[in-house]
Amino acid sequence: MTYLFANWKMYLHHQEALALAQQLAHTTSSADTTITIFPTALSFLSVQEALATTNISCGVQNISWTPQGAYTGALSAHLAKDVGARYALVGHSERRYIFGESDSDVRKKIDAALESGMIPVVCIGETQEDVEAGKTAYRLKKQLMMAFEGLMLSDNQLIVAYEPVWAISQSGKGIACDPLQAEEQHAFIAEEIKRYTTAQVPLIYGGSVTADNVLSYISCHHIDGVLVGSASTRLESMSALIQAVTSK
Ligand code: PGA
Repeated sequence: MTYLFANWKMYLHHQEALALAQQLAHTTSSADTTITIFPTALSFLSVQEALATTNISCGVQNISWTPQGAYTGALSAHLAKDVGARYALVGHSERRYIFGESDSDVRKKIDAALESGMIPVVCIGETQEDVEAGKTAYRLKKQLMMAFEGLMLSDNQLIVAYEPVWAISQSGKGIACDPLQAEEQHAFIAEEIKRYTTAQVPLIYGGSVTADNVLSYISCHHIDGVLVGSASTRLESMSALIQAVTSK
């Protein structure tokens, strides 16, 4: 199985998201590719409906760990699952570093997603400062420990996205991680995960992925797919990504 996850972040207005989903509904993909769109929560239902006749599913970009009730502004895992979300991004670096989510917040969200029956896509990755301080392995180990310690998992119940923060594009411009380096980090992450679970945990790469470089990642032994931001928000580049991934 190869994963192509499209994180639309806050790039598109509702009508733009809907139009893109309607156009994507005409593209074809193979059965051994899992394609999931993560629109804004405001566009989730419309995008999901536009893709209803395809094998492209929808997920949410963020969940709160709170249950149902008096939690103004929160969107719980249960509510997301209830409207059909299969996957939830958890701990994306923009949540961690712009909105101040801690490793323990991320863990609460993982628990909430699993409890609701959704598959958390747990994002981890080192910042440029971590790289400069020689703390890449430290950062990944810590994020993984906080995510996995004491977790009871079955196969494919959780996905880890390795997204080096320095490789994530800003307004569509970014420096992708060298595929060999990405493969090395995924191998390291796979070894670390074995400390905590024997369950199968798919690993995907994210950070400036485009239709031009996607095959260089998904042909790596430890990389099971990609999480794409900017390049997934335009019809031409998203169609090219789908084509590239399904041709693998
Ligand atoms: P990018 O974003 O593809 O625009 O670099 C990836 C992500 O943040 O998930």
